[in-house]
Amino acid sequence: MKQIKVKHAKGQYKILIGTDLLPKTGVFLKSLVGGRKILIVSHRTIAKYHSGTVKHSLEKAGFEVHSYLLPYGGERDKSEQVLKSLWKKMADIGLDRSSALLALGGGVVGDLAGFAAATYMRGISVVQVPTTLLAQVDSAIGGKTGMDLYQVKNIVGAFHQPRMVICDMNTLKTLPLAEFRNAFAEVIKYGVIWDAKLFDLLEKKTAAFFTSLNRGKLNQKDFSFLEIIVYRSAKVKAEVVCKDEFETSGLRMILNYGHTFGHAFESVSNYRISHGEAVAVGMMLAGELALREGLFPKSGQARQVKLLRESGLLEPWFRGRYAAAKLVSFMKKDKKAKAGALRLVLPRTIGRVEVRSDFSGAKVLSFLKDVLTNKTGTGVNAQ
Ligand SMILES: NC(=O)c1ccc[n+]([C@@H]2O[C@H](COP(=O)([O-])OP(=O)(O)OC[C@H]3O[C@@H](n4cnc5c(N)ncnc54)[C@H](O)[C@@H]3O)[C@@H](O)[C@H]2O)c1
Ligand SMILES: [Zn+2]
Repeated sequence: MKQIKVKHAKGQYKILIGTDLLPKTGVFLKSLVGGRKILIVSHRTIAKYHSGTVKHSLEKAGFEVHSYLLPYGGERDKSEQVLKSLWKKMADIGLDRSSALLALGGGVVGDLAGFAAATYMRGISVVQVPTTLLAQVDSAIGGKTGMDLYQVKNIVGAFHQPRMVICDMNTLKTLPLAEFRNAFAEVIKYGVIWDAKLFDLLEKKTAAFFTSLNRGKLNQKDFSFLEIIVYRSAKVKAEVVCKDEFETSGLRMILNYGHTFGHAFESVSNYRISHGEAVAVGMMLAGELALREGLFPKSGQARQVKLLRESGLLEPWFRGRYAAAKLVSFMKKDKKAKAGALRLVLPRTIGRVEVRSDFSGAKVLSFLKDVLTNKTGTGVNAQ
């Protein structure tokens, strides 16, 4: 088992990464959670595989265990109705400030349970047990919790750090294969923004991983690879959020690499494009813009594009379908845009990016017009 320590304003927590960790949940939490009551928050598609193991382990450690299952099993769960019914459950079973919530699931479960824990009695403990690759490398770490309102994603939320994050590779064995691809966009992102060695490793192993995935079965080698990339990705996210817990210094902004362009594609398509694909195209565009500005070498962009392609994330759907002007208007509305100016995270080399606020909307518009209509001569189209 590997461990990562995450320090924050009010203390610290550990991220545990390994295999067969769920049967030890009770042992891990015994000295961490003061009270007896723990509420497992999950969804039945996840709970049917993994909840029994967690419950048994917690009960063996002396906890009184309750369970709440989210009704829909998707983004719809991050709503005020579901939040209200979860708060009610918490009150009905008499959770107090010494109790804990345990989020067993992907980013949806983690975000909603985290927000419920942040707000119930002005904040109780939450333990994150992420069961998707995306949640293990991204959403379970860093303390951002949230829900959607009037179809605006993550508009209501709170910073609330977990008491522990437990990433058990066994949970990924029941994850539908389609869920892996999207998470690879974030993993590749960590390589480009921070960890050149992770990027090198991805270049060596990604093609073989996706060969297994496309055949419909992952093998032991694939799971060993996943364990390493979860560790290295979680470490990048932990290091960045430790240094900028509340998004004040600007460092945390680098996690948004590929997301400013990406969110615009998600919005303009009414969320028909998946987050991973949108971020992948966003990274490719940020790389292309940086290349044209002389900030990023051609070889760096070629490596990035090749890796995104090997992950099946760079299909040419984006070309010609969406108007550049509409995309730029969404980019200006992005909640990370500062006083109307576009903020872009641009790569300098594999392993390092910089945040730039000096690109006008007009400049980005002319860049997008060119890339989205031009069929030759860019790293985007190079085969
Ligand atoms: N808080 C943050 O910092 C942060 C960061 C990134 C994303 N997010 C949020 O995360 C959410 C997306 O998370 P996600 O990609 O994990 O999706 P998800 O939580 O919707 O899970 C994907 C699907 O897989 C199923 N599932 C999960 N684990 C399983 C398992 N082990 N076995 C079988 N089925 C399983 C789920 O029931 C669901 O149907 C979005 O709401 C996004 O806003 C939050
Ligand atoms: Zn993302």
